[in-house]
Amino acid sequence: MLFDNDFLDQLRKAKSIVFFTGAGISAESGIPTFRGKDGIWNKLKPEELANFNAFLKNPDMVWEWYQHRKTIINETGPNPAHVAIAEFEKYYNDVTVVTQNVDNLHHRAGSTHVFELHGNIEKNYCIDCLERFDDTTFEMTGKTVPHCDKCGGLIRPDIVWFGEFLPQDVFAKGEQKAENSDICFVVGTSAVVYPAAYIPLGAKRAGSFLVEVNIEPTEISSTVDYSLFGKAGEIMPQILEQVKLFI
Ligand code: OAD
Ligand code: ZN
Repeated sequence: MLFDNDFLDQLRKAKSIVFFTGAGISAESGIPTFRGKDGIWNKLKPEELANFNAFLKNPDMVWEWYQHRKTIINETGPNPAHVAIAEFEKYYNDVTVVTQNVDNLHHRAGSTHVFELHGNIEKNYCIDCLERFDDTTFEMTGKTVPHCDKCGGLIRPDIVWFGEFLPQDVFAKGEQKAENSDICFVVGTSAVVYPAAYIPLGAKRAGSFLVEVNIEPTEISSTVDYSLFGKAGEIMPQILEQVKLFI
């Protein structure tokens, strides 16, 4: 792939880089996206699964669905896009991932500065006493929702559902990193879910060079400085190869 000289110049002189990622970056790991051709939300309605009332109404069904997602995630791993992003840390001092994904694949690929805007499917907490159950000593599998061993309350995945607030400190830190970045990559996201989608817009407003990597044009395509259309698992390693040539 041939890259624009303007982009290569930005890449050469950048000190601080942010990767804002969405479900599309994990598509090549075999995890279905939410929207688009094979998107989950084409088949299942978010309001039936991804909100607190749905959980209270049918906790076992919601629990089982997330366990199913978790099984898919556990059986797969990071793909070349996650790995390339983690490797950027070898070439730049200031690399941050701000992700909408809950699949933990950036961590598993080796990225060390990851802000998870929508939570993490590996983590859980009690809806009553808020006790956290982040380890596997507690039985988290199966078709029925577990109960808290402290108070008996229902245990839910630590995922931001529709109508819920994002973790404010995580969002604020991610936003600040994006605004101070020299380049902000927007990888595999439809960029339609707010407030998460404010992150790249804020970066652009603050003067960052916005680069989109997606298989197709999105809401943010008309705003970005540079669009690269193709699979993240193919494009991100090629960008990393360019970076290696600067050394
Ligand atoms: P979406 O499913 O909305 O968008 C996925 C994007 O990835 C689309 O723009 C696809 O074109 C693109 N894509 C698919 N395969 C790709 C590939 N191999 N390489 C590059 N791009 C690819 O996912 P998000 O934008 O992450 O919220 O959705 C945002 C939020 O909506 C999610 O975090 C989730 C959902 O409701 C919560 O769970 C709280
Ligand atoms: Zn409890």
